[in-house]
Amino acid sequence: MDVNHRTLPRRKVERTVTTRSEDTQTMDHAPQLIQERSAPPATLVIFGASGDLTRRKLLPAVESLARHNRLPDQFALVGVARTPMSDEQFAESALGGRSLAEKRQLNGGIRYVAGGYDDPETFKRLAEVLDELDAQRGTSGNRLFYLSTPAGAFEPVICGLAGAGLNQESENTFSRLVIEKPYGRDLATARELDGVVHQAFEESQVFRIDHYLGKDTVQNVLALRFANSIFQPIWDRSWVDHVQITVAETLGVGTRGGFYEHAGAMRDIVQNHVLQVLALALMEPPVSFEGENLRNEKVKLLQAIRLPTDRDIADAAVRGQYTRGGTREELMAGYREEVGVDPLSRTETYAAMRLNVDNWRWAGVPFYVRTGKRLPARVTEVALQFQRPPHLPIPTSQLTELDADALVLRIQPNEGISLRFGAKVPGHSFRVRTASMDFSYENTFVEESPEAYERLLLDALIGDASLFIRSDEVQQSWRVVDPIIEHWANDRSPIPTYEAASWGPTDADRLIGRNGRKWRNAA
Ligand code: BG6
Repeated sequence: MDVNHRTLPRRKVERTVTTRSEDTQTMDHAPQLIQERSAPPATLVIFGASGDLTRRKLLPAVESLARHNRLPDQFALVGVARTPMSDEQFAESALGGRSLAEKRQLNGGIRYVAGGYDDPETFKRLAEVLDELDAQRGTSGNRLFYLSTPAGAFEPVICGLAGAGLNQESENTFSRLVIEKPYGRDLATARELDGVVHQAFEESQVFRIDHYLGKDTVQNVLALRFANSIFQPIWDRSWVDHVQITVAETLGVGTRGGFYEHAGAMRDIVQNHVLQVLALALMEPPVSFEGENLRNEKVKLLQAIRLPTDRDIADAAVRGQYTRGGTREELMAGYREEVGVDPLSRTETYAAMRLNVDNWRWAGVPFYVRTGKRLPARVTEVALQFQRPPHLPIPTSQLTELDADALVLRIQPNEGISLRFGAKVPGHSFRVRTASMDFSYENTFVEESPEAYERLLLDALIGDASLFIRSDEVQQSWRVVDPIIEHWANDRSPIPTYEAASWGPTDADRLIGRNGRKWRNAA
């Protein structure tokens, strides 16, 4: 995969920058990937074509790839869904309001197949359409099937594809399957789904998506750690006191109450996004960023996560549910008042955990992770807090507001990195106060980040699986969260609550506070 900054200029107007990205040396681990990347001839087939994800993320990603000349003329798009629609109506929904250039590039190559996912006729018709496109557009028999449906449709679609022979690859053609989350509800159902998938597709044909891996700043965790020499020596138990990983959202569940009721924060965010970011931040250096090498290291890290025992599970994990809160001007409904949510719901909208990683690098270092909806700030970050100096030759009275050193990787928003340290306060006395050095993507690079889905769609079309999740990674992630989800399901005590726009339940402060530590809460 390409961990270098994008070479594709997204803005015409250059701004004055302090660090020119052009001056930056590129990593030589993956030289073949530094080149401009474009998709080969292929047809993208989206199941769930009339759905929300397709409209909000997938179609804009296709459009943006077309706009940036990442798609060849021999590209086609096929939507499949139950909703009756003509090719023209689907093309209009895919391209309506878009610029003429993309229309010219994609028009004529957009088709729609209406039908039930458990009806073999749907797949027969799809196979015919794909053959027609191969003949008319030169899509060369290459197919990328994107399952953007509710999880319940995964099995019938996979069986339908196999029934129509659409899972078959030849020496010169590919057939790939992109699967959205949730991938199972727990380890057992993830294994069952793997069974269904592997009956029809080889693992090398399967691209399980976690859109966090498509974010430049998540990939930058790799660049920071492995393209530099200065961080590696301090990236271990000798220097790091603890690590905090936060995925905080200000939004509530919105219109997704029905889905969220069956997911909760642990399945929705921790099992996938949080554990992926954690694995990238803590894993050993891979030999290369080639898909299998990278994923092998992530799996090893996930395997090393120690599960809490039944006895200490209550101390190691905290859940919460938001109640009505906010300000008089902006009063926010409680979770139980949201559309599609059971008024007596016990689903968690907040989850925090303390994890330990049993390996030489990290033994004894606690990792605190948390996520929540309706928190006061939108922030996703990885913060390494370093140990205090063993001896301070300065009287404590001179240490005004001196926090421990920290390196903070800001995934979003305000993307960048900051290093927090102590500095002498100007003046006659020797006082030390916290200061920080800041790297900001926005002020440093003239290139703009592509949307996560755009990057991942292109990778799947190219066949680069490094930013997709392998079957054993999914299983390891479920292994970590399953015992906690099960413990909560069996715990009949009232679910802890937190007011909307507050930093989660007080139990979460106790979780991290046991060793005198505290959460980094943005002001
Ligand atoms: C999705 C979750 O996977 O990620 C949502 O299902 C969540 O509940 C979203 O809001 C967050 O993604 P991002 O990119 O906005 O941080």
